[in-house]
Amino acid sequence: AQHKARQKILEALKLSHEQLLEVKRRMRVEMEKGLGKETHAEATVKMLPTYVCSTPDGTEKGDFLALDLGGTNFRVLLVRVRNGMRRGVEMHNKIYSIPLEVMQGTGEELFDHIVHCISDFLEYMGMKGVSLPLGFTFSFPCKQTNLDEGILLKWTKGFKATGCEGEDVVSLLKEAIHRREEFDLDVVAVVNDTVGTMMTCGYEDPYCEVGLIVGTGSNACYMEEMRNVELVEGDEGRMCVNMEWGAFGDNGCLDDIQTEFDLAVDELSLNPGKQRFEKMISGMYLGEIVRNILMDFTKRGLLFRGRISERLKTRGIFETKFLSQIESDCLALLQVRSILQHLGLESTCDDSIIVKEVCTVVARRAAQLCGAGMAAVVDKIRENRGLEFLKVTVGVDGTLYKLHPHFSAIMQDTVRQLSPCCEVTFLQSEDGSGKGAALITAVACRIREAGQ
Ligand code: BG6
Ligand code: GLC
Repeated sequence: AQHKARQKILEALKLSHEQLLEVKRRMRVEMEKGLGKETHAEATVKMLPTYVCSTPDGTEKGDFLALDLGGTNFRVLLVRVRNGMRRGVEMHNKIYSIPLEVMQGTGEELFDHIVHCISDFLEYMGMKGVSLPLGFTFSFPCKQTNLDEGILLKWTKGFKATGCEGEDVVSLLKEAIHRREEFDLDVVAVVNDTVGTMMTCGYEDPYCEVGLIVGTGSNACYMEEMRNVELVEGDEGRMCVNMEWGAFGDNGCLDDIQTEFDLAVDELSLNPGKQRFEKMISGMYLGEIVRNILMDFTKRGLLFRGRISERLKTRGIFETKFLSQIESDCLALLQVRSILQHLGLESTCDDSIIVKEVCTVVARRAAQLCGAGMAAVVDKIRENRGLEFLKVTVGVDGTLYKLHPHFSAIMQDTVRQLSPCCEVTFLQSEDGSGKGAALITAVACRIREAGQ
């Protein structure tokens, strides 16, 4: 009876093929709204123009600085790109932490901290005083009217520094550089992490025309036909569009698949009601969904002998890496128990089986939803080009995607089922988005020099 009761609760998190097809269809509808001039203002999936109009072609070259802000790690990088016979990229980088009080303090503090890290990096590399062009991976929704300008629309994930929304983040960075009066930098490009990832992978694979992140947050970008990017003048060629698909569902269009657990996670987040699709998919939230289900089970006496420990009530105890560990196939149940114990949760053998199943169901739904979104993207690209069949590569990054033992297989399976006329290859990015940001910067510098 207990088993049945648990299954009944988990049923709501299991999506049928029809439901997933419906998610794909709705994503397509929202994509059209975001792209359309008349509908953009009220659209939730913003489909933001990026002013990146080509994928890498191997002629990029030069030395660049890159910043990578918004994922698990904040990095400063030096990227050396060579073309011709010795084509290749050499990278040096250093990871810096961003303390919570800086992520959620004032914008000035945040950007002063970033500039402090750049200064430390230049010293570390023995490059104090040199001024290099910089590509800024900034993994938040930005309205761009140029490659080197990005107005932050809204913070997402764990950031909420004041005084930044509605501002151009390149100006905020430049102002912080001037405050420090130590060096000058030429900020050439602001790039979303999806776009940087697409470019990183595009350097290896010319079919790579889509970027996907499944990490702290989730989002995708792809090469859209200029004639469909109605916010930007001109009909020739293509432009990369940052979808900001994390906000899919913010208009209520996914209400029928959201569960009480999703609502509970949303309610206590930094941005209630926002990024609803992201909250069902990405690393920052999946552990919280699991925890909420476990609490519900326990309250009903279906788990942990009905005793809710203080630990279980603690937000954020289930990090992505635990979800990935618990689901790892080679793990014996005893090890699942020791992971739980490590989290401060005393479990019996039966408890550990239940916890593992909950993790499986939550991660599976995430991977399927992500696959349904991706299916909408690749089919749109195929239709754009009037093709019966499309071969395309998706460049992917993000800790959840990389560490989870089953996420990628389930997602790929879903895409195959929902978009049978596309052959989609997923290429995992090993070099982060900084390399791609540098490649974008290289092209922009070349065009700028040619124009002078
Ligand atoms: C990194 C990229 O590898 O992955 C970042 O360089 C990106 O730009 C990040 O934001 C996403 O993953 P996570 O798990 O760190 O949020
Ligand atoms: C969030 C951000 C988006 C980013 C994604 C992955 O959804 O809004 O810009 O690409 O996280 O990091």
